[in-house]
Amino acid sequence: MLIASLKPRTMGGTTNTGLLAYALARAGHPVTCYDADESLQLAAWARDVDDFPCEVHEADTPAFAETVYPEMDQTRINLVDAGHAENHPDIVDSVLEVADLAIVTISPTKPDYERLTRPERGTPLAKVIKRSGALRDSGQPPATVVLLNRCQAGASSPKRFADLLANGGEDGTEPRWNVLTTRIPRREGIASAVGFPCDKPERRAPYDALVTELTKLGHLPVTRRGV
Ligand SMILES: Nc1ncnc2c1ncn2[C@@H]1O[C@H](COP(=O)(O)OP(=O)(O)OP(=O)(O)O)[C@@H](O)[C@H]1O
Ligand SMILES: [Mg+2]
Repeated sequence: MLIASLKPRTMGGTTNTGLLAYALARAGHPVTCYDADESLQLAAWARDVDDFPCEVHEADTPAFAETVYPEMDQTRINLVDAGHAENHPDIVDSVLEVADLAIVTISPTKPDYERLTRPERGTPLAKVIKRSGALRDSGQPPATVVLLNRCQAGASSPKRFADLLANGGEDGTEPRWNVLTTRIPRREGIASAVGFPCDKPERRAPYDALVTELTKLGHLPVTRRGV
């Protein structure tokens, strides 16, 4: 299967992709990563640490569906870190053509919410995802979930933005999103995760919870470890 990690702009996407790869491997899944962001930070992370759990293939091409996807081992969980949907819509379109699940990372803040739902320029990500259905064998867009990250402990913003996303905005007229109950906290240990080993509990626990939730929702196969 292929999981696409997406975001409209810089939102913690590579952090979430890498730490999810570690968590998937801890849960017993065979994982392979693809870096479809021209900044290639996921690929650099894997190169720079000894404990990165899998290979990361450079795959920043708008021909992702035609040239990268057919070579994947579909018995593994393939995880692709896509760059800004705003700046690289061609790559994101190609990834969405073949992904089984899209995980959209955003922070529970007004600017991030607006960049996701009604950017001043460019196509809102909901529309990019919806239109991908036209290019897919099923005719439907991939299952999509929103992962809130950089959530301040005790703050009201995660619930407020989760409700706005789930309910189609203030007046219910905007697209409705499936918002995961797992939230990635705002933590220094996570802020400094990219390029470093996964050697701190805060780099593990939220992502183990994410794997558990994705499994319960039926997005991931159950492993022998029951996760
Ligand atoms: N849970 C977190 N808590 C605190 N800071 C975080 C957290 N996750 C990410 N960050 C910070 O957010 C910033 C962006 O993270 P990251 O590079 O993962 O995002 P990105 O969406 O991949 O960005 P890019 O546009 O460069 O691809 C970084 O400064 C990182 O330290
Ligand atoms: Mg990145």
